[in-house]
Amino acid sequence: MSPPEAPLLEQLAANSVPYRDPLAALDWRALALDRYWLPPEAISLHGTPEFSALSEPARMRLSQYELLGIAQAAVALERVALESAAWRLHRAKSSAEYAFLLHEMREEAGHGLMFLRLVAASGLEVPEWQAALPRFARPVTRLIHSDLLYWFMQVVVQDIPDKLYRFVRRHAGPELSGFVRQMITVHMLDEARHLTYARRRLEVVAQGRGLTVTRFIPPLCEILFNRFVRRLFWPDAELYERAGLGDGRPWRLVALRNPHRREFVLRLIAPTMRLLQQHGVEVRLR
Ligand SMILES: [Fe+2]
Ligand SMILES: [Fe+2]
Repeated sequence: MSPPEAPLLEQLAANSVPYRDPLAALDWRALALDRYWLPPEAISLHGTPEFSALSEPARMRLSQYELLGIAQAAVALERVALESAAWRLHRAKSSAEYAFLLHEMREEAGHGLMFLRLVAASGLEVPEWQAALPRFARPVTRLIHSDLLYWFMQVVVQDIPDKLYRFVRRHAGPELSGFVRQMITVHMLDEARHLTYARRRLEVVAQGRGLTVTRFIPPLCEILFNRFVRRLFWPDAELYERAGLGDGRPWRLVALRNPHRREFVLRLIAPTMRLLQQHGVEVRLR
């Protein structure tokens, strides 16, 4: 670790000191099913005639299942974040980094518990979380030792949800659940600190990579980026079935072919893609 990063780590750790436990801080009694959990524009089918033909309660229900799908992916991501942070504890080069990592772990554990409770408290039918975990959700850098890949993934898995949260907050009208808005805010504020550090590390690693980067790392970055984006924004067929829309396969196809969805996602993640590009990692949405 270069000494100039110690002040940043100390500042971030200090900002984490007033810890807010999401289980205690959130008003769980306010979680209700009579509101949207995502703004309609953020639903995978939005913009299609099929979506327009759905009743208001059906759209609302779909928004709830889509948010729960994201929450279950988040449970997996929090686990990966914890594993990664624990692994980095062994290698921490200063007390400032050690403290930052412990704060990060406390916060990620809180987020995992928050999403598990959301699923349980929703009363909606969702698959067991073990089955819902994406297969790729393990620290890939355990297998492939690449700092570039590691910090690239740290940025991707935190920056893209951040963009979605910002969209939800910007478009949170009276039809959006107040609880969801509150939950998203809690997550966003904690993640902002993790992201600041991840972006900084990616910058440092990208500057120093020179000729040492293995040729297969950039294509691997693109594959992992696309898998993540696909998992987050295009629900599987079963989700539509659980949301009460009948056979899910045609619905998944509608979403996959929905040009409005692709446009929405591209607009949302454009700042993340630009940031990655600035660090020399060009990714395209497939
Ligand atoms: Fe988190
Ligand atoms: Fe995080």
